[in-house]
Amino acid sequence: MQDIENRVAVVTGAASGIGLGIAGALVAHGVNVAMLDVEENALIVAHESLDTANVDVQRYVTDVASRDAMSSTAAAVQAHFGKVHILCNNAGVAAGGAVDECSYDDWDWVLGVNLNGVINGMTEFLPLIKAHGDGGHIVNTSSVLGQFVFPGQSIYCASKYAVVGISEASRMDLAPHNIGVSVLCPGMINTRILSSDRNRPDALGNVGRDFDEVMLKEVEATFATGMDPDRVGEMVVAGIVEDKPYIFTHASFEEQIRARFEGILAGFDGSQD
Ligand SMILES: NC(=O)c1ccc[n+]([C@@H]2O[C@H](COP(=O)([O-])OP(=O)(O)OC[C@H]3O[C@@H](n4cnc5c(N)ncnc54)[C@H](O)[C@@H]3O)[C@@H](O)[C@H]2O)c1
Repeated sequence: MQDIENRVAVVTGAASGIGLGIAGALVAHGVNVAMLDVEENALIVAHESLDTANVDVQRYVTDVASRDAMSSTAAAVQAHFGKVHILCNNAGVAAGGAVDECSYDDWDWVLGVNLNGVINGMTEFLPLIKAHGDGGHIVNTSSVLGQFVFPGQSIYCASKYAVVGISEASRMDLAPHNIGVSVLCPGMINTRILSSDRNRPDALGNVGRDFDEVMLKEVEATFATGMDPDRVGEMVVAGIVEDKPYIFTHASFEEQIRARFEGILAGFDGSQD
């Protein structure tokens, strides 16, 4: 979508990290933004941090895992803005632990936000993008862990591989409607992802394995050296304008992704027609 100025974008998980970076970059390019997040206070602060002098930026407290909440927010966004052109399904959470340590609640929480959140976003907002016929663009946030795996990340990888699949297939489905689809696969970004638990619902509170405190401190220190989420926001805007199928943030992961595909192709040895 080359001409994004004065268009309307919906960004989920917009109160922090990558979502706020995306919202800020869109605003800087003259895009009106509906900021969605489950964390009300953080959303208010995030909204106030943006320069809204020349654009209309609204906030909507919404749990992306809830079909009802996404449906009523979509109606409210449509009623306010009249049209939606860009959808960034970005809200996400992380829970760790080897697969034999994961609880049902771990699976339900992470898949509910990371996978169902994207499904709900597509189901509720895509009809609004299609309706006006002006075309549009969708960016789904996956991860490099949607392209290769890491130990202790079964749930997260399951959710992020699924987001890559949804994005690749829907890119084909939506091309005839002039709607592009990109999948964002960030490497390490300096955000609050390691404290995702702050938004974990009590109803899904049975944690399979708590983070080891010492290990968590080390991982937090590493994440603090990660890329600035505002930089990711700029990459996302470029990805929308250039209609990129994949948006990678870190060149250094190319080798791991290549190794995974080489491993897959090696599996064809001895196969038959
Ligand atoms: N930080 C990284 O290194 C990294 C790497 C790859 C992918 N990602 C992905 O980037 C996306 C953004 O995460 P981040 O790193 O900016 O983390 P973050 O915690 O800083 O931001 C995530 C935002 O999502 C919101 N959120 C959580 N649950 C929600 C729900 N149910 N409904 C609505 N909003 C909800 C949070 O309140 C928060 O504002 C996620 O999908 C994450 O998996 C992050």
